[in-house]
Amino acid sequence: MKTLAAEGLSAEAIDAAFEDIRQHDLDWSSGRCFAYVFSAGKDVGAVAQRAYTAFLTENALDPTSFPSLVRMENEVVAVAAELMHGDGAVGNFTSGGTESILLAVKTARDHIRATKGVERPNIVVADSVHPAFHKAAHYFGLDVVSLPVRKDFRADHEAMAAAITDETALVVGSAPSYAQGVIDPIRELASAASARGVLMHVDACVGGFFLPFLEQAGESVPDFDFRVPGVTSISLDLHKHGYCPKGASVILYADADLRRHQLFSHTKWAGYGLTNATVQSSRGGGSVAAAWAVLRHIGAERYKSLQTQVRACVKDLCKSIAAIDGLDVLGEPDASVMAFGSTSIDVYALVDAMRSRDWYIQPQFGHGGVPKSIHLTVTPVNVPHQAEFLSDLTACVAELRANTTSGTQSDPMATLAAAFAAGQISIPDAIAAIGTDPTRAQESAAMNRVLDRLPSEQVEAILREYFHQMYVGR
Ligand SMILES: Cc1ncc(COP(=O)(O)O)c(C=O)c1O
Repeated sequence: MKTLAAEGLSAEAIDAAFEDIRQHDLDWSSGRCFAYVFSAGKDVGAVAQRAYTAFLTENALDPTSFPSLVRMENEVVAVAAELMHGDGAVGNFTSGGTESILLAVKTARDHIRATKGVERPNIVVADSVHPAFHKAAHYFGLDVVSLPVRKDFRADHEAMAAAITDETALVVGSAPSYAQGVIDPIRELASAASARGVLMHVDACVGGFFLPFLEQAGESVPDFDFRVPGVTSISLDLHKHGYCPKGASVILYADADLRRHQLFSHTKWAGYGLTNATVQSSRGGGSVAAAWAVLRHIGAERYKSLQTQVRACVKDLCKSIAAIDGLDVLGEPDASVMAFGSTSIDVYALVDAMRSRDWYIQPQFGHGGVPKSIHLTVTPVNVPHQAEFLSDLTACVAELRANTTSGTQSDPMATLAAAFAAGQISIPDAIAAIGTDPTRAQESAAMNRVLDRLPSEQVEAILREYFHQMYVGR
């Protein structure tokens, strides 16, 4: 055995090793990171940790052996159903938005097979939908009909209605979309779906634990939940604006019968009668216990206060960023996530410039007429840093504008992109030339400029190969 030490390490030695291992990680607790991490403060983190470790070892594989986990799951799902106005709704706790979406699509596939005998169904989505829907279709053998968004970045409900066929298992709307943060016309989409007897899923992974509290605080929120006739399922993530630790989401169905298509059972072996409500089989109790505890610790009033602070910050950021010469906010973001672009400076260079000042903002590729942009997910830890963020953003934009000749940033990667697109260099060569190194992520502009130039299929191939090479098991 070469890689596993003969003698075990002490807890102190392991803590010291972690210090070293995590030295290149984003410092999410600084409030300077606008993606990936949702934090409501230290007290919430401490409650989550205690609850997580209290149920670290229990296994939800067999709910009859650990009724504590069923009870907590049902109580967490009940909170989600109440927030979504799902009188009679049922659902499950899952590991995240992607698992909730996988289940919604698998359920829709099995529903259309059972009710209409359609063996190869499709789902109708907008281009702005989260990639988890494409992943679900890829895993479960469905086709995706994806339609361009309107000029305001919302789903084009008329085009989507016209795309519904007898093979359509599911129509999808987002509340809000991740990339531009806008809520799709859910009422119109649901009405078009139900008119054709088709299921309708609302991806409220971002908005599900956010928008209801804005509404309770008196803000006007577009209709998106089970109050909209025709909405048959909703995904909402506890590990986003529920501020629970990662590995926590809920999938809900308006009609309890529909959820029957989600379950899996197998007894054709000489083993235990395996039955799973969700994708995972063995599942630790930590994430459900932590979610149960965080929901109770924060409570409705503090959620209202946290979400209204975040919303106010997003509104201010939209106004202030639009006022910076050279930057444009994309659309009118409805919740906690937003994007901005530029026609005069390279947004990828701006991402790196901000990174050198210790801010993490997320680069987004352009697609289908939607320009490349920078994404911000705003959470309570970011709110106190708003003024400093805007001041650094303004300074970085000014620096880049001063360095920019003839309106656009000079581009050393253009030749590489052209050579790759023409098939003159291979994927591994392209990766080597781009020089991607996870510990040098602050220099991402060159890579993003290349990727942004290439057709999606080539970018996907490069990214898959890059990940293939990153996880080498050594
Ligand atoms: C709108 C939306 N749906 C689904 C997901 C997928 O969630 P997860 O990353 O928890 O799997 C995300 C993640 O950002 C999202 O923003």
